[in-house]
Amino acid sequence: MSGTRARTGADGAGTGGAGPGGTRPGATGPGGTPVKEALQGAVTAIAAAGCETPRLDAEVLLASVLGVGRERLLTDPTLNVRGPAVRAYQNAVRRRSVEREPVAYITGRRGFRYIELKVDPRALVPRAETELLVEAGLAAAPGAAVLDICTGSGAVALALKQERPDLDVWGSDLSEPALALARENAAALGLEVGWLHSDLLDEVPDRFDVVLANPPYVADGERPTLAPEILRHEPPGALFAGPYGLSVIAPLAAALGARRRVATVAIEVGAGQAERVGELLREAGFGSLRFEADLAGINRVVIGGRD
Ligand SMILES: C[S@@+](CC[C@H](N)C(=O)[O-])C[C@H]1O[C@@H](n2cnc3c(N)ncnc32)[C@H](O)[C@@H]1O
Repeated sequence: MSGTRARTGADGAGTGGAGPGGTRPGATGPGGTPVKEALQGAVTAIAAAGCETPRLDAEVLLASVLGVGRERLLTDPTLNVRGPAVRAYQNAVRRRSVEREPVAYITGRRGFRYIELKVDPRALVPRAETELLVEAGLAAAPGAAVLDICTGSGAVALALKQERPDLDVWGSDLSEPALALARENAAALGLEVGWLHSDLLDEVPDRFDVVLANPPYVADGERPTLAPEILRHEPPGALFAGPYGLSVIAPLAAALGARRRVATVAIEVGAGQAERVGELLREAGFGSLRFEADLAGINRVVIGGRD
């Protein structure tokens, strides 16, 4: 069993950088190293370290350091890397190539659906496939109470609230540091989401109609196969879930079954886990099952409704 997390790492390019007009002081004008040259050196270093997307990484990091959108690196001939940006870019490239930090932890930003999140090692870097969970939430009835359990950075809860302001959206997590990050994201985005500190449903009131979850689902035995970006930098509590990767999902499914008000659940799973998780949901009383595949064709989200 191998999850997408294991294969791709948290390398994804955050949106990085500022908006089109927001060049950092000193980044333009004469002198310094031309962008093309700086990028070439960075691509070489990042590729030599074995990262999967060296050009993309180098561009996102440079855009972030210069405070510009990525497209300006290619279209603005006045851009140079000079002054404090030289050291900042060297440092970013070192963190990516030597430390193998995820790009999003270096830039501190990650795009997710229509929002941009602050990200740091307090929580997992939100993955593209997790956007499917938000889509499952979009089907909720007007005004429904929706809980994003295992919320991490708050990505799912916040993206859902941004797209469906009518919903009463909450996020919960066992990790206090992750919840602190989720709260910071909510404040920065101006989105009203409630937050709960809870081990699964232990401290969660019985008032939710829909529950979404991207729980830890990597089997302990997969540890050696994980990319260094994940293994060295992402919180282990966000990743590992026992010998079969189901030690969080199994009790969660059972606990959800006991909450009669919960009509719909959507759970993200690792590659090869969908069928087993479907069985767990069926046993818990969610007999109407649907699977949503990610772009690689892997059944990634299991959606259960009451019989
Ligand atoms: C895979 S991460 C998902 C984070 C976020 N939802 C995302 O998709 O980017 C799993 C999250 O579950 C939390 N978690 C692990 N065990 C938990 C438990 N027993 N109860 C609640 N949250 C838990 C971790 O702290 C982590 O933030």
